[in-house]
Amino acid sequence: MKTMKQQSRREFMKLSTGTLLGAAVPGPVKKLFRPDAAEVTVDVSHGLGDISPNIYGQFIEHLGRAIYGGIYDDGKRRFRPDVLEKVQQLRPPLLRYPGGTVTKIYHWKDGVGPNRPVRKNLIWGGIDNNHFGTDEFLRYAELLGAAPFLTVNMGTGTAEEAAQWVEYCNATAGDYATQRSNNGHAQPYGVHYWGLGNEEAAKEDAGRLQDPQDYIKQAWYYAKLMKLQDPSIELVMVGDQDGWNQQVLEALHPVCDYISLHLYARSKPGDPASLFASIAAMEASIQKLGAQIRAFTPEKVENFSKWYRFSGRQQPVRIALDEWGIWEANGQGAYGLEMEYTWNHALGVATFLNIFQRNAAVIGLATWAQTVNVLAPIMTNETTSICQTVYYPLALYRKLCGPRSVAATATGAGAAALDVAASTDGKTLTLAIVNRDSRAAIDIRLNAKTTGQWTAHELTAASIEAKNTLAAPATNVVGHRQRTLPAGAKTYAMAAHSITILQAAL
Ligand code: AHR
Repeated sequence: MKTMKQQSRREFMKLSTGTLLGAAVPGPVKKLFRPDAAEVTVDVSHGLGDISPNIYGQFIEHLGRAIYGGIYDDGKRRFRPDVLEKVQQLRPPLLRYPGGTVTKIYHWKDGVGPNRPVRKNLIWGGIDNNHFGTDEFLRYAELLGAAPFLTVNMGTGTAEEAAQWVEYCNATAGDYATQRSNNGHAQPYGVHYWGLGNEEAAKEDAGRLQDPQDYIKQAWYYAKLMKLQDPSIELVMVGDQDGWNQQVLEALHPVCDYISLHLYARSKPGDPASLFASIAAMEASIQKLGAQIRAFTPEKVENFSKWYRFSGRQQPVRIALDEWGIWEANGQGAYGLEMEYTWNHALGVATFLNIFQRNAAVIGLATWAQTVNVLAPIMTNETTSICQTVYYPLALYRKLCGPRSVAATATGAGAAALDVAASTDGKTLTLAIVNRDSRAAIDIRLNAKTTGQWTAHELTAASIEAKNTLAAPATNVVGHRQRTLPAGAKTYAMAAHSITILQAAL
């Protein structure tokens, strides 16, 4: 009979496809110092594309306790300072709002000015008194130093209403621009990122469009009216399965800056290692959509009529992972959206972030779903808030990883449990390695042309089940150790179930 340890080892071996850059590639490695050791090789001359800083974005929705009780203290009519401080430390460059699915019933005019109606949240339940609306969101984004990203209502809303929102946010003249000024913000906000709907292929919610051709027809109309208000805005079109994506790209590519892909990983009950298989499948989805969008080069935008009164797309289409995260079946609250994340989930998050780096050439932005209380790195109760395990890789990658992705591979028997990605700013090499093996440390030989000593930033926890909880808010199960490796060191002992970011001068 196989032991649990052997079984988990086998699971990791199954993940090793041996084909993708950065994924584990078993193969012969000479002179390794342990039979299950690995060699990590970085080729800085092999660029994989610029990493958009916007892959570290966040997302907040009018859903459950995400905004009221999370971002916003409605009793005191202010942003929760404890939450704001934690979100600020994630340094998100981008913040998406107001949904998500709620977009399909959300009317932005309800959330501006002195008189705000109380509405039922028909999608997620509860009441929205609209105390947190556009100006509050944009102020919050400003406090974070994040670019705002708004999604418009293509369900109960209209193209005109969406264009008026663009005017409210970005114009210097017009009735809505005047309203904004009267509401306390004389200067335009300059909202650059606009999502045309959300998951419009979905049948189960209030989605009206569902058929790709219906979406295309409406989206063209929305795009035209919105771009007439501000031709500089960038548009995120809704993606879904291959067939939908192909039709949307063929029809809308002249005005499609991004096509969306939503990724929620999940493990099988009682099988934590299966989380990584789920995430590996998501890398395959990114690569599939990446191959689809590559065909729609800027040169494909031909004969764009001057009568549109704005120009057609001039950059490659990129993927907007405008919802990504981990959504297990055992969450609490409505729709199981309040998750307690274990350390295994944090390993999953680091794996996702490696994937984003490896596929940098096609990913334009990514916003984690969602920031507070809903599938979230930050959880609150009435008196306190905590950072869950997944918070720590989000913060560390944002802090350390470079702007250009370069090729990295792991080889050798120990490689199957590893996930690697490398980046550089031209001066420093940053190597991110996740050891998903909860069984053992893995000795790694570092094969990269560097000049200085390596500095290691290591995140660990006592077990993959470890988690931070509101019941013990003062306890942090995540350990962060930073150390400089001895001069000339070319090896690194990677702790079991750990995340390490190694840096050295080039
Ligand atoms: O993030 C929670 C929900 O998941 C979003 O509202 C929806 O877009 C997705 O299905």
